Amino acid sequence: MNNLPLLQIKNLSKSYKANQPVFSNINFDVNAHEIVCLLGASGCGKSSLLKALAGLHGINEGEILFKGKPLTKPDASISVVFQDPCLLPWLNVQQNAAFALTLHSETKISQADVKAKTDTALQWVGLQHAANVYPEQLSGGMAQRVALARALVKSPDILLMDEPFSALDAITRFNMQQLLLKLIAHRRHAVLLVTHDIDEALMLGDRIMLMGDGHIVREWQITLPQPRAKHLHELIETRMAILEELSEVAGEHLLPSGVIT
Ligand SMILES: Nc1ncnc2c1ncn2[C@@H]1O[C@H](COP(=O)(O)OP(=O)(O)OP(=O)(O)O)[C@@H](O)[C@H]1O
Ligand SMILES: [Mg+2]
Repeated sequence: MNNLPLLQIKNLSKSYKANQPVFSNINFDVNAHEIVCLLGASGCGKSSLLKALAGLHGINEGEILFKGKPLTKPDASISVVFQDPCLLPWLNVQQNAAFALTLHSETKISQADVKAKTDTALQWVGLQHAANVYPEQLSGGMAQRVALARALVKSPDILLMDEPFSALDAITRFNMQQLLLKLIAHRRHAVLLVTHDIDEALMLGDRIMLMGDGHIVREWQITLPQPRAKHLHELIETRMAILEELSEVAGEHLLPSGVIT
C-alpha cells in the first residue's frame, strides 16, 4: 500500500449523450499529500471529471481506484468543495460544519464526538467564534471557510475542490489559499483543485495538469518550495508556457491580430 498512489485514474471516459464524450481516455494518479491543480478552458469537462472522482457521477469506461480499490460511490475519505459553499440556511455554522458527520448513520457517533470534531474543524479555519452564526450573516470568505470545515471534519485523505475561491475578492482569495496551504501542511491530505487561475495553480500546486477538449494534454511539475507567494516571479517561464498551451486548447491566440506591439 505504501507506494501506491492514493487515487488512480485509468482510461476514464464519460458521455452524457451517446457518442459525445465529455472526457475520454483520462489517465493520471494523485499521490498521498500531493496538491494537483487542473486547468482548462471553460466547458472542457473539468467539473464532470471531478464529480466522477467524487463518486457522484457514473462513468462509461475505465476505472477509478482509491487506495487501490475500485471507487463506485462517494467515499467518506474523499471530500468535495464547490465554488458555491452550499450551506443550509436553517443550520448555524456549527451545524453546517457537522453536517457530513451526522449524514452517515452507519457509523454511530456520539453528540460529544460530533461537537469535538466540529469544534476542531472550525478552529482549523478560524471560525470557532462564529459557531452560532447563521449563513445569511456570513461574508463570502467566511461561508467558504465553513464549507472547508465541513469538508475537513471527517479527516479525509483527499479534498476535491472545484474553483473553490473563484467567487472571492483578491485579498480573501489569497487568504484562503494561504489557509489551504497551512491546513495541508498540518493535516497532510491530498488535494485535486480545479481552477481557472494560473497564478493560483502556481502558488499551490505540486503538479499542474492542463485539460483540453476532454483530454489531459500536458502537465508541469512545480518544484519551487513553499511558501511561494514572494517567489512566484521565478515561475514566470512556466506561467507563459501554461498560458500559451491554455490559449491553444481554448482555440484563442495570446496576441490577436490587430494588437499594436
Ligand atoms: N449533467 C449534465 N448533463 C449533460 N451535460 C452536461 C452535464 N454536466 C455538464 N455537461 C456538459 O458537459 C460539458 C463539460 O461541462 P463541465 O461542467 O464538466 O465543464 P468545465 O470544464 O467544468 O467548465 P467550466 O470551466 O465552465 O466550469 C459541457 O458541454 C456541459 O454542458
Ligand atoms: Mg466547472
